[in-house]
Amino acid sequence: MRVLVTGADGYIGAVLCPILAGHGHAVVGLDTRFYAAGLLYPDLADRPAGLRRDTRDVGPADLAGFDAVVHLAELSNDPLGALSPTITREINHRGSMTLARAARAAGVRRFVYASSCSVYGAGGSDVRTETSPTAPLTEYAACKLACEADLAAMAAEGFATTCLRNATAFGASPRMRFDIVLNNLCGLAATTGLVAMTSDGTPWRPLVHVRDIARAVALVLEAPEDRVRGEILNVGDDDQNLRVREVADIVGDVYPDCRITYGPSSGDDRSYRVSFARIRSVLPGFACRHTVVDGAREMRALFDAIGLDRDTFGATPFTRLAELRRLLGAGLLDASFRWRVPSPTPHRTDERSGGGIPADDGFPGVG
Ligand SMILES: NC(=O)c1ccc[n+]([C@@H]2O[C@H](COP(=O)([O-])OP(=O)(O)OC[C@H]3O[C@@H](n4cnc5c(N)ncnc54)[C@H](O)[C@@H]3O)[C@@H](O)[C@H]2O)c1
Repeated sequence: MRVLVTGADGYIGAVLCPILAGHGHAVVGLDTRFYAAGLLYPDLADRPAGLRRDTRDVGPADLAGFDAVVHLAELSNDPLGALSPTITREINHRGSMTLARAARAAGVRRFVYASSCSVYGAGGSDVRTETSPTAPLTEYAACKLACEADLAAMAAEGFATTCLRNATAFGASPRMRFDIVLNNLCGLAATTGLVAMTSDGTPWRPLVHVRDIARAVALVLEAPEDRVRGEILNVGDDDQNLRVREVADIVGDVYPDCRITYGPSSGDDRSYRVSFARIRSVLPGFACRHTVVDGAREMRALFDAIGLDRDTFGATPFTRLAELRRLLGAGLLDASFRWRVPSPTPHRTDERSGGGIPADDGFPGVG
């Protein structure tokens, strides 16, 4: 299958593209490369060719000849949504729909969308299924729901849309994110020996390894269209619904010399427990292979191997909000989050550096 992966240069995309290629798919990446300045380690995987493009500008001609689009390219978490609700809506909702309409017009048959369990918002201790009421607390989560609704309306014979409500990801990726809970706590433990929680650690969070997200995407692409058309599926594992405090305890077990402290209740209402029964029935081959304990151990081994230090842990590209602020502050992005820098390379493709991790890409490209 010819698959276009948007957000190929991001945390999930950098892991997903080689996995899809390993499943025999011909993969092309599309990404505006907001975080190109950050590469935690080279994984030496073959990278797909890449379109350096903003989803807001994509048209049917860009998508001709693809069988499937896997859409990851958005501002990727709640704090980013708070940075600019207007731009979040423009990229995460309107940009995503521009892409989806272009895909349909180009004759792409499958569209897999990276939604999020954050749509459950303040779910408390009740276990949420795909049919439970949603309670988005942020612009980011509201946009996820808006995309889900619009994609459901577009699902038809010949255009199979599937929305994957991913739990919070963890695990190693060359395009690392240290702004998601397990990666952040492991990085703190490795570089400071202290995890000082700013909350009491009681909120629930379902967690999922980034490679298990990738496997879920691969299984959706390989499932019969009728089975996945119009589906919304939570992606994760019932046993990996943990309180943030339990996540910190796992980090403490993997880093026994690390001190962990808790603060008062943070006032952050985001808390949800999620059922992952449906994905197992729709995609019978799916089960998560990696636990949170596995992920913490994997990250300790990686951080030891690369000698993760405080400067690298704190480098802005690994915290998406900090990097966007830096790019905006330096005038490299304009107020609508479009690149201002002139293109050093041809606009469309860069076969040598590929869409994943450009070999010499210390400087961001042009959207
Ligand atoms: N990582 C998680 O825990 C998690 C959990 C649930 C859902 N998701 C969703 O999965 C997707 C990928 O997440 P991630 O963690 O890899 O995020 P990421 O921020 O690491 O990657 C997103 C990529 O998309 C690109 N991008 C952003 N806006 C773009 C635009 N307008 N045009 C082209 N490229 C653009 C960025 O340059 C970046 O490379 C996102 O939609 C996110 O909301 C992630």
